[in-house]
Amino acid sequence: MKLAVLPGDGIGPEIVAQAVKVLNVLRADGLKIEMEEAPIGGAGYDSAGDPLPQATFKLAQDADAVLLGAVGDWKYDDLPRDMRPERGLLRIRKDLNLFANLRPALLYPELASASTLKPEVVSGLDLMIVRELTGDIYFGQPRGISRLKNGEREGINTMRYSESEIRRIGRIAFDIAMKRNKKVCSVDKANVLETTELWRQVMIEIARDYPEVELGHMYVDNAAMQLVRAPRQFDVMVTGNIFGDILSDEAAMLTGSIGMLPSASLDEHNKGMYEPSHGSAPDIAGKDMANPLATILSVAMMFRYTFNDPASADRIDNAVRKVIAQGYRTGDIWTQGSEKVSCSGMGDAVVAAM
Ligand code: IPM
Ligand code: MG
Repeated sequence: MKLAVLPGDGIGPEIVAQAVKVLNVLRADGLKIEMEEAPIGGAGYDSAGDPLPQATFKLAQDADAVLLGAVGDWKYDDLPRDMRPERGLLRIRKDLNLFANLRPALLYPELASASTLKPEVVSGLDLMIVRELTGDIYFGQPRGISRLKNGEREGINTMRYSESEIRRIGRIAFDIAMKRNKKVCSVDKANVLETTELWRQVMIEIARDYPEVELGHMYVDNAAMQLVRAPRQFDVMVTGNIFGDILSDEAAMLTGSIGMLPSASLDEHNKGMYEPSHGSAPDIAGKDMANPLATILSVAMMFRYTFNDPASADRIDNAVRKVIAQGYRTGDIWTQGSEKVSCSGMGDAVVAAM
């Protein structure tokens, strides 16, 4: 297994270091894992003048899977858009054709009180957001800021989806639903936006091939509301790039902390990039206090989806379950009475539990 390891910016390097410890446990037990590190985001810009240096892209392209920390820092905010860290992330997603972004939101029973919502609303929560990742208003042309005839500026972005783009992400969602509770909720804004009217039509067409799966539809505003009102009604949610970006942050918070949520971004051959759903948190970078569990759980997803090794995936998932049950907490999920640990302390606890 060839792995490209891209720590990125902010807390990226420290959380990735914990995930690498976990990989080293598996390696010591006989798995043949090769890892090579390269800079991306602000780190890419600093070292090679490009948020996705050519050598980094090549490494990622040749690898079987990519492990990514996070990108972004305020200090890059004034760079031209193409040089900003986020651009490196968007380019690697697009250029590796990682169109299927899986963001599970799972509540560990012991963390119910860490959620800002009432425990009875969130307990038992287990939903999977399937977000399209290489299309939509994120990539649609035309885009830009231009000058109108009257001299004022105008900003333009374009929401667009082709039928085949919708179909391939829809199929992924239905396939995942077949392995879960067989419910898909497709999120759109079909009452206003034609792009998503087509989205809805295509989802209905796909559903004909999955008679066992119950397909429902929700407008995105209602979905945002339902997620905090009664989140357990959802099994699999499938939606476009921008709606998925927003709803996945919201869903993450139901579980107590965005620091718990892993993600997988897959191409059609299940090659994938694995990263925590959260950002680079520059305010706590280098302080050894970030929660590494989302990154560690992303490694579990890597074994599940790319390496087809559910035993190793379960081993990591179970170790995380165990450290949570043992009461270890980083600051973001800490509640009175539990034991506060550092980022590296949490990594060590997971390694011990394995
Ligand atoms: C995410 C992030 C990214 C996105 C940013 C950093 C470009 O918010 O992965 O959800 O918008 O996709
Ligand atoms: Mg986001």
